[in-house]
Amino acid sequence: MAHFLTYLLLSFLIIYDSLGLSQSNQFCDAGVGYPESTCGFSSSSSSSSSSKLLIKGGTVLNAHQQEVADVYVEDGIIVAVKPNIKVDEDVTLLDATGKYVMPGGIDPHTHLAMEFMGTETIDDFFSGQAAALAGGTTMHIDFVIPVNGSLVAGFEAYKKKAMKSCMNYGFHMAITKWDESVSREMEIMVKEKGINSFKFFMAYKGSLMISDELLLQGLERCKSLGALAMVHAENGDAVFEGQKRMIDLGITGPEGHALSRPPVLEGEATARAIRLAKFVNTPLYVVHVMSIDAMEEIARARKSGQKVIGEPVVSGLVLNDSGLWDPDFVTAAKYVMSPPIRESGHDKALQAALSTGVLQLVGTDHCTFNSTQKAFGIDDFRKIPNGVNGIEERMHLVWDTMVESGQISVTDFVRITSTECARIFNIYPRKGAILVGSDADIIIFNPNSSFEISASMHHSRTDTNVYDGRKGKGKVEVTIVGGRVVWQDDELKVVPGSGKYIEMPPFSYLFNGIDKADAKYLSSLQAPVKRYFTAS
Ligand code: URP
Ligand code: ZN
Ligand code: ZN
Repeated sequence: MAHFLTYLLLSFLIIYDSLGLSQSNQFCDAGVGYPESTCGFSSSSSSSSSSKLLIKGGTVLNAHQQEVADVYVEDGIIVAVKPNIKVDEDVTLLDATGKYVMPGGIDPHTHLAMEFMGTETIDDFFSGQAAALAGGTTMHIDFVIPVNGSLVAGFEAYKKKAMKSCMNYGFHMAITKWDESVSREMEIMVKEKGINSFKFFMAYKGSLMISDELLLQGLERCKSLGALAMVHAENGDAVFEGQKRMIDLGITGPEGHALSRPPVLEGEATARAIRLAKFVNTPLYVVHVMSIDAMEEIARARKSGQKVIGEPVVSGLVLNDSGLWDPDFVTAAKYVMSPPIRESGHDKALQAALSTGVLQLVGTDHCTFNSTQKAFGIDDFRKIPNGVNGIEERMHLVWDTMVESGQISVTDFVRITSTECARIFNIYPRKGAILVGSDADIIIFNPNSSFEISASMHHSRTDTNVYDGRKGKGKVEVTIVGGRVVWQDDELKVVPGSGKYIEMPPFSYLFNGIDKADAKYLSSLQAPVKRYFTAS
């Protein structure tokens, strides 16, 4: 009976929200349980739009070109992109004159409903995705954390967490221990579960951190499966020492977090991971590049021809570490993430690297904890859960920081927020493009409008926002996911359970030529040398 009442209440809340009647941004309370099904709603009830859509008169942006054209969508797929498309009366029309029509953002790096540092991120697969959609992101790739080292158990747990999804999502898988069963399960993930990337944490000693020996084995296994190896690059042993040093000095506040893990430790681990990937001859993806030190290692490797991808995140691109010294604990703690947000100068250097192609795509590392959770570390910065928000803000902040400042073109914007991610994770051109046959994950972006970020208006469940008060040019006015309008006139029309799991096949373009390089290496070996022994 109690279950039924919860269900009724939930249904009411969803309708209430879908009609835009709710005044609060906290439209979906934390902890509300969703039934296993689609919460009793089919996807057709999610929106007033028909399954046919015509977006008229906009400038269509792809990573490779821009053109003035109409975009016609049927049953979630783009079926025509050309000027002056004529349609019947049953088609929903959206006027995009003077605006950009581009692929929805793809965020390569999120943590929704992740158990971490003794708590769980406050945004789950519904609230985090709703926030994403309000900000023009239509797909994200989240990190599955194994359960007791088991990838299969981790995958099943995340599948359950993701049942309340309302947009496209995929999974990376973390590797936290090594044995025969992990190696076997990696193959299951790739061949049966649609996962084509594995993350190795070189930090978080005592919990997620792996050894160099494990990293080497993992790199070899990734290569054999055509899966992309990803690293969180910080020297976890040195971080541990740095933390002790700060505590011994009496520095227990959030600033101690940044002081304990300086850029040199990120640079060292990045260099080490790059060299091990070179030794194995497999592509490498460095997540959340936060410092000049790490970026320069990536630049050097790429210049030498090594296949290394560098992912800056929005916080590293637009913030500096000054907030960590704020006398108010709640304000300072909200900026705690790893690797830390760096002092001024790193942000601009990362922007320049992004604009020149040294770094390739932008993520968020959306990993939100509210101020109550952050207060676990009131007396000891080591206990402050690490993570910041960004899934809702990424598109606006990257536009304002990179396009409005003249550092990149509008087509580059599409590349770094959507297309490159789709290519790297092998789902292009289904995703990341406005092309005939692509999924209709589309945004209408008004470059002449403006955005403003505030913790009281955002759609995340968290009560703080590291971008609070930021204003800028450009606004996502419409978000379409799978052919359905889910964000329009500042209103969300989202349905838990309507999201789609996107399987990602192995052997992306990054693997082209790997076998040839291996063959070349083998043929270059002047060994074994036929020796003779001359007795004296
Ligand atoms: O502070 C961070 N980055 N939290 C999320 C976990 C990770 O390292 O990506
Ligand atoms: Zn990380
Ligand atoms: Zn992360």
